[in-house]
Amino acid sequence: MSEVLTILGAGAMGSALTVPALDNGHEVRLWGTRLDDDLLDAVDAGRAHPRTGVVGDPRVRTFRSDRLAEALSGATAVVLAVSTEGFEDVLAATTPHLRPGQFLGLTTKGFGEDRDGRIIVLTDRADAVLGEAGCRTPIVAIGGPCKANEVAARRPTAAVHAAVDPAVAARSHDLFSTPVYAAAAHHDRTGVEVAAALKNVYAIALGVCHGMADAGGEPFHDLNALVFTRAVAEMAALSVALGGETDTVTGLAGVGDLQVTALSGRNRVYGARIGAGERPDEALRLMREAGQTVEGVPAATSAARLRDQLVADGAVDRDGFPLLAAIEELVTDPAVDTSVEALARRLVVVP
Ligand SMILES: NC(=O)c1ccc[n+]([C@@H]2O[C@H](COP(=O)([O-])OP(=O)(O)OC[C@H]3O[C@@H](n4cnc5c(N)ncnc54)[C@H](O)[C@@H]3O)[C@@H](O)[C@H]2O)c1
Repeated sequence: MSEVLTILGAGAMGSALTVPALDNGHEVRLWGTRLDDDLLDAVDAGRAHPRTGVVGDPRVRTFRSDRLAEALSGATAVVLAVSTEGFEDVLAATTPHLRPGQFLGLTTKGFGEDRDGRIIVLTDRADAVLGEAGCRTPIVAIGGPCKANEVAARRPTAAVHAAVDPAVAARSHDLFSTPVYAAAAHHDRTGVEVAAALKNVYAIALGVCHGMADAGGEPFHDLNALVFTRAVAEMAALSVALGGETDTVTGLAGVGDLQVTALSGRNRVYGARIGAGERPDEALRLMREAGQTVEGVPAATSAARLRDQLVADGAVDRDGFPLLAAIEELVTDPAVDTSVEALARRLVVVP
């Protein structure tokens, strides 16, 4: 079935996902937020997208921020591809325009809050926002090892599209899956979403290991492996406590995405700067000034709150998350010691 897909957010991932959908012959619209005019200017002018370095396909129809209703009119599928900071606003603006028969995919990674201030995954947050508006559009969590620049350049990867209703996951799969963007339909929406949000947090610690190596000229491969192993164990424990499955975390959406996020991207860069001796608040400030959002930083605080909630519920053991505790302290304590010795001590975490 040919779909009319509207992607909300013309950043790296939004523009990248136009590629597999176009390759499958669908009509694709790309709507930019008020922050995306320069990105859409580049797309419209046939220049490389500033975030992916890849020239967009002229078949993509672009819409500026004041044309949201038009961009969504007649859409059969919608994907929200803004970063966590823009999630609530863009979702609220989109909800009145959603129509029966559509599904809403989310590439946004992070955590939200429910009405009582409890931390919840963004797929559940989207369900709540839509539900309050009387809208029953099903949500698809889109995860897996997908760097936007590689997806845009048609370099091969495999993604996971997870929904509560298998028919919805299958539809998202059919819309996007190509020989180079191999999308797997999945049933564990919570597991995919938790893994996607947490991998940004744990990639910071893996970035620290890389930064320590860069600074001192000696590798920290053993520490890296220790951190990676702990990260997967802690991601799995939090996911299972929320109703996700361990296999999801040990698969593409967890281990796969953690691996690629630790190899490149803003969370790794932030961690590497700390590993090289920069103060965390200073590294964050400089990256912000350069227009780089580090989603793992607010997600670390949210993940620690989530852990505390689950401890209070009796669902997890407080001592089971030493790496999360180390990362949270690292990103929130302005006086933290970033010498190689202190960082190494901090990351040797064995529960
Ligand atoms: N880049 C990747 O490889 C990749 C891969 C998978 C998932 N993701 C996720 O997709 C989401 C978007 O990532 P990206 O790489 O495209 O980021 P980006 O920085 O390239 O684009 C961010 C998008 O969010 C919007 N945005 C940011 N702040 C906003 C605000 N305050 N209000 C309204 N809109 C705002 C921007 O206008 C833009 O459309 C993130 O949650 C990211 O974790 C990214």
